[in-house]
Amino acid sequence: MKKYYIKTFGCQMNVYDSHRVAVILENMGMSEASSIRQADLVIFNTCHIREKATEKLFSDLGRVNLIKQERAAEGKNTVIGVLGCVVQAEDEQIAKRADFVDFALGPLTYYRLPEILQKIARKSGQTIIDTDFPAISKFDFLPENKSAGGCSFLAIQEGCNNFCTYCVVPYTRGVETSRPVEQVIEEAKKLVDGGTVEINLLGQNVNSYHGEDKNGKEQSLAYLLRKLNEINGLKRIRYTTSYPADVTDDLIECHRDIKKLMPYLHLPIQSGSDAILKAMNRRHTSGEYLEIIDKLKSANPYLGFSSDFIVGFPGESDADFEKTLEVVDKVKFIQAFSFKYSKRPGTPAAVMPNQVEEKIKKERLQILQDKLFDYQLKFNQSSVGKTMEVLFEGKGRHPGQLTGRTPYMQNIYADADKDLLNKIVSVKIGEATMNSLSGKIVRE
Ligand code: 5AD
Ligand code: SF4
Repeated sequence: MKKYYIKTFGCQMNVYDSHRVAVILENMGMSEASSIRQADLVIFNTCHIREKATEKLFSDLGRVNLIKQERAAEGKNTVIGVLGCVVQAEDEQIAKRADFVDFALGPLTYYRLPEILQKIARKSGQTIIDTDFPAISKFDFLPENKSAGGCSFLAIQEGCNNFCTYCVVPYTRGVETSRPVEQVIEEAKKLVDGGTVEINLLGQNVNSYHGEDKNGKEQSLAYLLRKLNEINGLKRIRYTTSYPADVTDDLIECHRDIKKLMPYLHLPIQSGSDAILKAMNRRHTSGEYLEIIDKLKSANPYLGFSSDFIVGFPGESDADFEKTLEVVDKVKFIQAFSFKYSKRPGTPAAVMPNQVEEKIKKERLQILQDKLFDYQLKFNQSSVGKTMEVLFEGKGRHPGQLTGRTPYMQNIYADADKDLLNKIVSVKIGEATMNSLSGKIVRE
């Protein structure tokens, strides 16, 4: 039996895509290898969101090529493939600089993998590249998804029409498309039948979901959440990533009405300065963002928020940066992801004047992260002594331990029997650090 190894970079959408690729390969009779060295097929699923990804990919590929040559000396063939957003942006470079790569497929064409692997088996040599933006949906051609354990991702929307001036996604994942309601519900039911208790709905701009129902009528994310809420056996629902301007009143009401919807929302603001938000082509001001947060909190006072931030966007002054810090103090995010602005070729911001010096970006990131980490630590500390419902997702670092997530996405570990893997269990929180909690299972 042939073995495959997939290394995934980047966002949760890539994790989902890699899982779907694994299902394709397993349907073809392959099984997962424990290391690259053991693999007959090595796949990198790549991310292009910030700089250095491409260089990192080429150094990783160089290393795999050495392994390929060692294996060849032992009479073993190794097929090397690249998937994901770097392929979409750098296909020519891949063909030129890494001609030993057998195939390179963009995020929308990997459903063609079986056919491509057959082609390679017949005649290896040239790199097969496919970076189409096909008119058809890959979801109509992929084999049925399989549960990834207690918690599974489910892509409901892909691509983006927002064109934030810093972002490559509209160019790598294409225009926004939504999967039909029935297709999503069917996939969710299959996942739940396979043991999934938590589904995380994915989309680059998930809350602008507008999939068609059976009658061809476009439906919203709120509609979909209410439908998913009806699936017996599904215990937890999340969705990510949301765009502030597309948070509708209907969606806000879901956070009041749907118990299965976890009390954690990732809602990127990027900057607290209205001038910078405008230059980023965001369709919201910081005031509007704060209003949405207030409305969400009135719907569900237990909601915790996380966000993405970019510091050092072209033209960002000290005063602009201060505004970002003010927003953090107002919302008190329970988790956050913050980045130095990174020039992406082909995006409007890359050629804007007044690019910010690296030194200043670094300083601002440090100041912002100190503040964000402080709120995150305080939130985690406020969990101590509480009992939380934890979904155990994996083995802990020490024997006899499992790790999981609280409703607020906090990482947690506890001594637990491995039978509790993929189950939701009450855990009393004992200790907290910035990155994780520990606790003890509450015996009923
Ligand atoms: N530079 C820095 N951060 C970026 N992000 C997206 N593009 C860039 C860029 N060019 C960040 C945004 C986004 C997250 C996924 O990555 O904060 O929300
Ligand atoms: Fe990376 Fe964005 Fe592509 Fe995800 S969608 S893989 S984060 S570039």
